[in-house]
Amino acid sequence: MRTHSSLAPSPDYELLFDRNPQPMWVVDRHTFAFLAVNEAAIRHYGYSRQEFLAMTATDIRPAEDVPAFIARATTVPAGVTPVGTWRHCKKDGSIISVDVTVSDITFQGRAARLAVIMDVTERIQNAAALREAEAKYRALVEHAVEGVFRTSPDGRFLMANASLARILGYDSPQQLMAERTDLERQHYRVAAERTRFRRLVETLGFVNGFEYEAYRRDGTTVWLRAHVRVVHDSGEVAYYEGTVEDITDRHRADAQLELRARERQHLLARAISAQEEERTRVARELHDETGQALSAILVGLRNIEDADTIADVRALAHRLRELTAHTVRDVGRIARGLRPSTFDHLGLLPALQRHGEELATSHNLTVRITGDGGQRYPPNVETTLYRIVQEALTNVARHARAQSADVIIQRENGTVRATVRDDGAGFDVGAALDPASPRRTLGLVGMQERASLLGGRLLINSRASHGTTVTVELPIDTTA
Ligand SMILES: Nc1ncnc2c1ncn2[C@@H]1O[C@H](COP(=O)(O)OP(=O)(O)OP(=O)(O)O)[C@@H](O)[C@H]1O
Ligand SMILES: [Mg+2]
Repeated sequence: MRTHSSLAPSPDYELLFDRNPQPMWVVDRHTFAFLAVNEAAIRHYGYSRQEFLAMTATDIRPAEDVPAFIARATTVPAGVTPVGTWRHCKKDGSIISVDVTVSDITFQGRAARLAVIMDVTERIQNAAALREAEAKYRALVEHAVEGVFRTSPDGRFLMANASLARILGYDSPQQLMAERTDLERQHYRVAAERTRFRRLVETLGFVNGFEYEAYRRDGTTVWLRAHVRVVHDSGEVAYYEGTVEDITDRHRADAQLELRARERQHLLARAISAQEEERTRVARELHDETGQALSAILVGLRNIEDADTIADVRALAHRLRELTAHTVRDVGRIARGLRPSTFDHLGLLPALQRHGEELATSHNLTVRITGDGGQRYPPNVETTLYRIVQEALTNVARHARAQSADVIIQRENGTVRATVRDDGAGFDVGAALDPASPRRTLGLVGMQERASLLGGRLLINSRASHGTTVTVELPIDTTA
């Protein structure tokens, strides 16, 4: 039996064939009939030697592979030839992938072919699993909301995903990688940031939350926040890889907050300097007017002391009484300038009415002020309403070129609302309030600040030649 199936008469060859751990067989080069199979083939495929020898090489493969097998088999050159990867069927029906190497031989006087089989099923399955895992990873990267990238130390993109391309204003990652080839020059708005980034990431091995301003394709900029790590290859920095998110909106909001804080400070400074000015004015008026008047009264009193006749005394006393009355009026006026006296005695509405009357006479404007006259509010609410309405009316007088202004004070549930409406020229509210505007004034901002300090809000509505309406609403309960 042995000699019958073995490859060659030499015992060495018999050993090489029969005991070879690789499945091997010999087939007839024309009929493909199995002429000999080794132990490994029998073990691996599950067919007995008899079963093998009753089959041809076409019987151990899926039917659809047979034509390709025959086509290949007829073109194999003589000599040892790897013929690639094929599918074979085991006896139990399972299909395996095998790498086959053949060489033509003469076997028992027949033109035959020796085949050496290597089962690569597992390797192929692993490769497929790897490909699938890679595809999943790629999909994850490609559909990530964050930008994902790999960059070289010399400042080129080695990889970028669609999000990063979008964030930087490119149509595709390919376009980004092709056009942005010098990160220091083309990517960083401040080139030195690249150096800072590299120093950080190369010292620490990673950097989390690195924030910087980057150019988009069209030359505008975005604020980015990056998390990056260094990948080494045999001791050298191979590349940086990481993610970035677009934090432009958050950055703008922060800048806005900062601006408001600065404005508040400015306002405070202005309030303080206004107080200083007020003191200076009051001091000057007390000195120039009241002081002068009192000095004149002193001189008059001395004259009375020195007077010879009662008629002289009478005349002097009369003049002194007039002077004193005048001085009393002056002192009242100075005091009113500090705080409208009507405010304390009568309340908000009469104080506003008096202010309106003064404005009306000095600016040739009709000012109507209406509301619930007797109503009192917490002192800080009254002061805030008074100052806001005063500023709004001053603006009407100074800027609106209006015929008339209406002020309405209404109480409504837990709030009090003051509306100041004029029929003047109107203005561009957005432009006047734009934080970026260089000629930004503080009147309107101050009104808003005052309202928000008490938890209220201020609305300004204006249209060219349709006049302006300023509405302020303040909560009463919470501030009472
Ligand atoms: N009722 C109004 N009618 C027309 N324009 C107005 C009116 N109120 C405000 N404006 C416009 O809005 C601008 C800003 O007003 P704002 O009160 O902030 O500043 P201002 O009055 O110019 O200066 P100030 O800081 O001394 O108040 C004004 O310069 C004016 O152009
Ligand atoms: Mg103003």
